[in-house]
Amino acid sequence: MKSLVILTLLVVACQSSSDKQRRFPDDFLFGAATAAYQIEGGWNEDGKGESIWDYVVHNNPAYIKDLSNGDIAADSYHNYKRDVEIMRELNLNAYRFSIAWSRVLPTGMINNVNQAGIDFYNNYIDEMLKYNITPLITLYHWDLPQKLHELGGFTNPLFADWFSDYARLVFQSFGDRVKHFITFNEPREICYEGYGTDTKPPIVNNTAIGTYLCAKHLVIAHAKAYHMYDKEFRPTQGGQCGITISVNWFGPDTDSDDDKLAAEITRQGEWGIYAHPIFSAEGGFPKELSERVAKKSAEQGYSKSRMPEFTEEEKALVRGASDFFGVNHYSASLTSATEHKVPHPVPSLMDDIDSGTYTPDEWPKSSSSWLTFAPNSLYNALTHLNTRYNKPVFYITENGWSTSNDRGLIDDDRIAYYRAALENVLDLLDDGVNLKGYMAWSLFDNFEWNAGYTERLGLYNVDFEDPARTRTAKKSAFVYKHIVTHRYIDH
Ligand code: NOJ
Repeated sequence: MKSLVILTLLVVACQSSSDKQRRFPDDFLFGAATAAYQIEGGWNEDGKGESIWDYVVHNNPAYIKDLSNGDIAADSYHNYKRDVEIMRELNLNAYRFSIAWSRVLPTGMINNVNQAGIDFYNNYIDEMLKYNITPLITLYHWDLPQKLHELGGFTNPLFADWFSDYARLVFQSFGDRVKHFITFNEPREICYEGYGTDTKPPIVNNTAIGTYLCAKHLVIAHAKAYHMYDKEFRPTQGGQCGITISVNWFGPDTDSDDDKLAAEITRQGEWGIYAHPIFSAEGGFPKELSERVAKKSAEQGYSKSRMPEFTEEEKALVRGASDFFGVNHYSASLTSATEHKVPHPVPSLMDDIDSGTYTPDEWPKSSSSWLTFAPNSLYNALTHLNTRYNKPVFYITENGWSTSNDRGLIDDDRIAYYRAALENVLDLLDDGVNLKGYMAWSLFDNFEWNAGYTERLGLYNVDFEDPARTRTAKKSAFVYKHIVTHRYIDH
């Protein structure tokens, strides 16, 4: 009798602890992400055209910290089967990668299709599908065909037409098998860094209007591609088309109204100018920032605001034009209206924002100046977006931690970061946020843009000295695999 009671108590105890075990849903997309220029190599192979990154690294090698480039990178152009094998080793059910526009359209224009490029991506996709890995395609991850840059790139109002032609080719070629398309990766980095400053190619560095002009054309190009997908492809292919925006969290430094407004304007400048036209009920650029830029422009002698307006027709085209909100999230900062405590690292905030941001000393720092381990930053960012933009479907399309290139395979800080972020994901799911997937950045080490190979974000190490580019699992890969496989976080 006594043993029966003990047994019953044990069963009840086990049940209640497993009830408390929070799990990721079975249909949750659990994967990892990469981007073409960062992994592929084969920069001019089989008819690939030149991109703005090819152009910059070849003409201005000192632009990259270690004078390296992505000519070979992780050589995924030749190693793609090994890439898929890694996905299988990790038990991933999803993989996000990008198409190099100039690999399929060497001049960027539709009159010159490079079949070898289409074949490469077909093989990559088919290899994933063999093992039930869901491919997510990013159409644009920063590698604009150089020829299109020579015509003004994102500042040319015809950009949306060039992008539509390219998007149609991608939907036509891969949409029978691929059901998730992301038009643009990180508009802030494309527009602010590439056009508003000199921190990314094409290094336009026009602080007055570069960011805003690019932002307007980018969201219109996104919306046109979205509507094309919706009308011409969704009826037969049945997939989804969205956009990925980098959303780092900016909270107020204190509870003062001034700091709260400073944080709000910072959020608007950092990502609201891309999110608001698409996801808000009212459409167009966000109000407080638009008013501030209009006022400053008048003071500076401009005859109209440096921030272009959307016509009512454009607003209607863009508003609601997305099936999901892709979020790349990494870090957070505190925003102060009154002082620039520590200048925001690289790159500085937009001139028009007028506030200071800093990260408290106690927040652990990564090897990348812009990436700190901020408490609950993923939760705060998504909770804000969920309320602000009326509960869209979300995917976390990137999240990860950077270590230095001499670290080796033991990466406990990356493990701590991933565990905390994934706890945030479970909190968001508990709150009812419509979050459908999570992609770790990155599947393996790759060309980290201006930092070259000095900053590593992979779950797998890549030996860039080795012609075979051997990939080896880091400790974090085993932990991530365990979480992905069992659908809970073990401690
Ligand atoms: C976001 C970008 O999309 C990706 O290309 C980059 O490598 C990571 N951030 C880390 O910097």
